[in-house]
Amino acid sequence: MSNLEIYKKTLQILKKHNQEQILSFWDELNSDQKDRLIGQIELLDFSKIKEWIENFVRNTPSALINTDFEPVSYYKSEPENSGLQGKYVNALELGKKLISQGKVAAFVVAGGQGTRLGFDGPKGNFPISPIRKKTLFQIFAENISATSSKYKTTCPWYIMTSPLNHEQTVEIFQSNNYYGLEKDNIFIFQQGTLPNFSTEGKILLAEKGEIACSPDGHGGCIEALYKSGAIEDMKNRGIEYISYWQVDNPLINIFDPLFIGLHALDEAEMSSKALIKTGPKEKLGNFCLVDGKVNIIEYSDLPDELAIKRNSDNALVFELGSIAIHIINRNFLEKFASKSVSLPLHRAVKNITHIDQNGHKTESQGIKLESFIFDAVPLASNSIVLETIRSEEFAPVKNATGVDSAKSAHQMMIDRAAKWLEYSGIEVPRKTDGSVDCTIEIAPSFALEKDDLKEKLPQIPPIKLKGTIYLE
Ligand code: UTP
Repeated sequence: MSNLEIYKKTLQILKKHNQEQILSFWDELNSDQKDRLIGQIELLDFSKIKEWIENFVRNTPSALINTDFEPVSYYKSEPENSGLQGKYVNALELGKKLISQGKVAAFVVAGGQGTRLGFDGPKGNFPISPIRKKTLFQIFAENISATSSKYKTTCPWYIMTSPLNHEQTVEIFQSNNYYGLEKDNIFIFQQGTLPNFSTEGKILLAEKGEIACSPDGHGGCIEALYKSGAIEDMKNRGIEYISYWQVDNPLINIFDPLFIGLHALDEAEMSSKALIKTGPKEKLGNFCLVDGKVNIIEYSDLPDELAIKRNSDNALVFELGSIAIHIINRNFLEKFASKSVSLPLHRAVKNITHIDQNGHKTESQGIKLESFIFDAVPLASNSIVLETIRSEEFAPVKNATGVDSAKSAHQMMIDRAAKWLEYSGIEVPRKTDGSVDCTIEIAPSFALEKDDLKEKLPQIPPIKLKGTIYLE
């Protein structure tokens, strides 16, 4: 077909769907740009796009007003009574066994744009550790390596990127020699993208010959795990459980035997870790029971009267916040593919750089669509929630400054190291206000958890903490 015929045919299709603006600058494009644009247009699924525009772009989906929300019952970080003590012991043993048997894989989602942090490059390459300035990727790699040694097994690592950062991420791993891990045990794959829309429902152009797209949300991992062959790879390795976390949390305990064990003992399909929220409006997803199923409801979707509701002991009724740490059964994800179930989309109003009708680059509010992994939780036949302690496991690096920033995460890493040392009988210098008066960093190879440290300390010369201490 000639270029003119392609243009006419494509224009006809786009007109039918009110999206002919995509070809506004056709005459200014060279033949490569034309090919690329046509390729992008061919990938658009107009039947879905029509529905998205109707339901998410032009109209805001009606807020969830479900008065049947109930609080979720959960496992406390420590067993609540002697009856449960035995279960925790069994779960811990089972979790350790599953890790040793090589049935658990690490899976980090790292395809986000990291706009709030404003760091140049993939967020996983952000230097965060207090002394050695290890990047997030390096901390995870060392954690995985230490777990493999501790449990005498191989722990494969799956990493989801997006077209925005895939090449850079692969380069970072190559140039760091995969942080000492076997290249074959690291599987880096890309998630999909979705077009960006104007508030009127027009697909936007990033360039005159390129549709504006953004990653399809962390929920896009289900499809991407499939399409990339990661699920097949897991199957070939005998992986049954996937330990999921977000790239911006340096305190993650990737292979937590208690969590894995409780999940497996209760025959759950997708489970979650939770924190007790700092207040009714903390910006974390809320765990709620809806029609008997565990759901994670976005903080903005939980009606105020429920968010502030308290029990007689003054604790919030909906006290559990989600920190995006999950165990997901590989089998459960396979069900998605076979039943072609998909996660719902969510709209986000964002400033989007695009080409306006006069061909000028401009920024204005538009709509991005994403799916969220936590929407898979209620689809699981069973799902457990395990409480974790914030200072032990959650230090998100979201913002450049202030709350949930590199600075706060950095301090939390020092504080956790100090607590582990004190737990192990080492005196940690503290200021009069109780804050730690030295800089400590513990390499994952030295201790993955506080009990590793307690066991190790009698075997090494006494430590006197002062100034800057790196333990490896
Ligand atoms: P966030 O919601 O914090 O988004 O992602 P973000 O893109 O990292 O940062 P902002 O909002 O632009 O500042 C939570 C986790 O989900 C991953 C991110 O990489 C992070 O680990 N994510 C998010 C994806 O992998 N893909 C996406 O499309 C979105």
